[in-house]
Amino acid sequence: MTPFKIAIAGLGTVGGGVAKAIAARGDDLSARAGRKLEICAVSARDAKKARGFEVKNFVADPLALASGDADVVVELIGGEEGIARELVETALKNGKHVVTANKALLAKHGRALAELAEKKDVALKFEAAVAGGIPIVKTLRESLVAYEVQAVKCILNGTCNYILTEMEATGAGFADVLKDAQKLGYAEADPTLDVGGGDTAHKLALLAGLVFGTAPDLASMTVEGIEHITAADIHFASEFGYRIKLLGVARRTPLGVEQKVSPSMVRARSPLANVDGAQNGVMVDAGAAGPFFFSGRGAGEAPTASAVISDIVEAAAGAFRPAFGRPVAQLATLKPAPAGAGICPWYLRFEVLDVPGVLAGIARCLSDAGVSIESMIQRGRAPGEGVAIVMITHDAAQSAVEKALNAIAATDKVRARPCMIPMEAA
Ligand SMILES: NC(=O)c1ccc[n+]([C@@H]2O[C@H](COP(=O)([O-])OP(=O)(O)OC[C@H]3O[C@@H](n4cnc5c(N)ncnc54)[C@H](OP(=O)(O)O)[C@@H]3O)[C@@H](O)[C@H]2O)c1
Repeated sequence: MTPFKIAIAGLGTVGGGVAKAIAARGDDLSARAGRKLEICAVSARDAKKARGFEVKNFVADPLALASGDADVVVELIGGEEGIARELVETALKNGKHVVTANKALLAKHGRALAELAEKKDVALKFEAAVAGGIPIVKTLRESLVAYEVQAVKCILNGTCNYILTEMEATGAGFADVLKDAQKLGYAEADPTLDVGGGDTAHKLALLAGLVFGTAPDLASMTVEGIEHITAADIHFASEFGYRIKLLGVARRTPLGVEQKVSPSMVRARSPLANVDGAQNGVMVDAGAAGPFFFSGRGAGEAPTASAVISDIVEAAAGAFRPAFGRPVAQLATLKPAPAGAGICPWYLRFEVLDVPGVLAGIARCLSDAGVSIESMIQRGRAPGEGVAIVMITHDAAQSAVEKALNAIAATDKVRARPCMIPMEAA
């Protein structure tokens, strides 16, 4: 059989890893693919950069890879627009398979790109776009299909998970831990997309699309980052038997699909609570088939290259399914649950003035909104200083809790906007 020709655009962390692994294990990979795998061209910004491996067949213009003789174009440049989008679109239009790790591109343009791939009967594969080395895309697209998946809950951003884990271990504040994470290379110089929840949102949108049989739908997702989480919240969480994680949650509810990214309280003994440092974790409630839990390295050269290469081997073997598990014409339109409808217990923290009647005022506002309190802690009484009041509520709708907090924030007894964090059962 003719060799399967691979063009790689982007030779950074992931692209370099892919080139090195194919060079090192080409024979075994070719045997698995049933065809010889051959890198026919590579491209990056800087032709002269030392990359720690032999760079052969360098092409200055990455777009040229879309019209060369490659069977698959592997897009590892990144970014939802610009050269990455142009390259993927052109390669698909030219009838080439595409493998990418680009969650931002797929979360935004997934449907249109899947349609292009389908028209040309080529693969559009993105295992590496979500959870690095954990094979969760294939699992949700092909394996857990017999019963209706009810929910996925996941930790998908290593930077946030590292920061929250370090805050818990050291008692340090968010800003200090972020600075250390940047020095150690665990956080980008501009960490906004990670700590603000945007990166998790991109990945969650892809998983939700696979689970609910829809195209990715970022527009109906609520996204909140970890910037406002304090060392005190983490401490109080542990007093209640919980840990704080940045969770992506997509689940069926009677009112529609809820998709949200937010810091969440997770029971300390649950598997997700024990995903530490830069690890990722995904909990799938697969209905009658039961819950499944996956964890492992969600980023870095080898885990991500591992996922990219699995896609390349499948494309070479001719084993590919529609990008989102079903033909584009059969993708449903996601029916989002109304904003604020999510019901769960809530952790609430108030920084209040230590004056009589404050607690009664908070309790009245909560009660007026129909929110009842399950337990409470009050701490800190240095003269002239505020007092932290922390409460756990019974099940309550997000909109009801927000209404109560707005009323409480409008009084002159609180020193800062109250903090609310959802509590997840698992
Ligand atoms: N790093 C991870 O752990 C990880 C995990 C999952 C998914 N991903 C995704 O994988 C993709 C690549 O990430 P990465 O971490 O490997 O990025 P990276 O290390 O920054 O590498 C990016 C590569 O793209 C090249 N490049 C950038 N702009 C270009 C342009 N205009 N024209 C040609 N080449 C250009 C760079 O060239 P030079 O080398 O010459 O500068 C570099 O080789 C992204 O979509 C990312 O979200 C990464």
